[in-house]
Amino acid sequence: MQISHQINLYTNKQNSTPRVKQPAFQGLLYVDSQTGVPLDSWFYRDAGTLKSAVAEIKKEFPAGAEIWDFACSNGEETISVKSLLESPKYKVIGYDTSTSALRLAKKGIYTVFSNWYDSFLLQKEKSSGDEKFLQEKFYGMMEEIFPPAIDRHINNKTDYFNIKKFYRNFQEKYFCISPQKIKEIDIRKGDINGIKYYRSQDKVGAIFFRNALYQMTGNDLNETIEQRKYFASRPMDNKKEIIEALVNKIHAKLETGGVFLIGDHIKDHLFLADKNLPENEVILFKNTPFFDIGNRKHICSAGVKLFKESPLKTALEKFGRFIPVGFSKTGLGYGGIKVKVPTVWKKVR
Ligand SMILES: C[S@@+](CC[C@H](N)C(=O)[O-])C[C@H]1O[C@@H](n2cnc3c(N)ncnc32)[C@H](O)[C@@H]1O
Repeated sequence: MQISHQINLYTNKQNSTPRVKQPAFQGLLYVDSQTGVPLDSWFYRDAGTLKSAVAEIKKEFPAGAEIWDFACSNGEETISVKSLLESPKYKVIGYDTSTSALRLAKKGIYTVFSNWYDSFLLQKEKSSGDEKFLQEKFYGMMEEIFPPAIDRHINNKTDYFNIKKFYRNFQEKYFCISPQKIKEIDIRKGDINGIKYYRSQDKVGAIFFRNALYQMTGNDLNETIEQRKYFASRPMDNKKEIIEALVNKIHAKLETGGVFLIGDHIKDHLFLADKNLPENEVILFKNTPFFDIGNRKHICSAGVKLFKESPLKTALEKFGRFIPVGFSKTGLGYGGIKVKVPTVWKKVR
């Protein structure tokens, strides 16, 4: 499915014709309304990682490549990636399993507001350096629209209203993909587990699966209460096997020289130990942020059993098939110390 957007729905241009009668604005879906799966995403999330991956892709595939953005959620990530790989020789396809996320992607209306991760996109005049660079990319893809207040429904209400309450100069803007660029954004329903069946004749230059592996493996290290509802329904104790199988599939689908991207969230790097894990593979981690179900709050525990080495790292490095080429920094908890984590892995054999 190529997403179809209501491009002219709220533009301030004359002669624009609304195509749907009662559009509901959902600029930020926090969780899938049916399954409870966390859908959080924003433009240029972990921009350093995106930039190093893009540099690798351009270097390895100067004649072009397909980029598969799995777990693309509402589409902010796919739009960000395409804006950095503007040339038509790079075809970027976003895939996600969530019907709610895909519904929003289909609507194609996005919001950016103050004091959020991507709010630098609002301050056009004040920017310089990296932010200015990303703004130029963003405004090359997107155009501002003006939905009526009644349609500015935002699912991520907690964050949105908290920020709005506390910041006097709160600003919000709405965007859609500009009509000239709409054909370049392709978002479909797709599960990374079935990757070998998608366009099975093709190999691809990059596969994204950012901030989603923790969902697939039930790695509910520091979930919020809302997210916990989702994980409570699917306890998993075979992370090692799940990850190994996933990495095998990704390896088979990638071109040599291609890259695999993982999220910068700590839950994609630090894994709760499977129950049957041998003692020599377990570490009791100090000050691990952990969601205490009994007390329904986050605590720092010194007794949480974790994998001594990330099973993802182990699977990627098996047979020397992937090497890390891009890194990010991530927090162990809210406001806590940051650690360096590999987020871009290159297939070398
Ligand atoms: C927390 S969001 C992350 C979105 C985006 N990658 C980012 O980092 O901003 C996780 C997304 O992964 C999707 N997801 C989870 N398991 C998936 C799977 N097996 N295949 C494709 N998408 C999946 C969810 O539906 C959700 O939209």
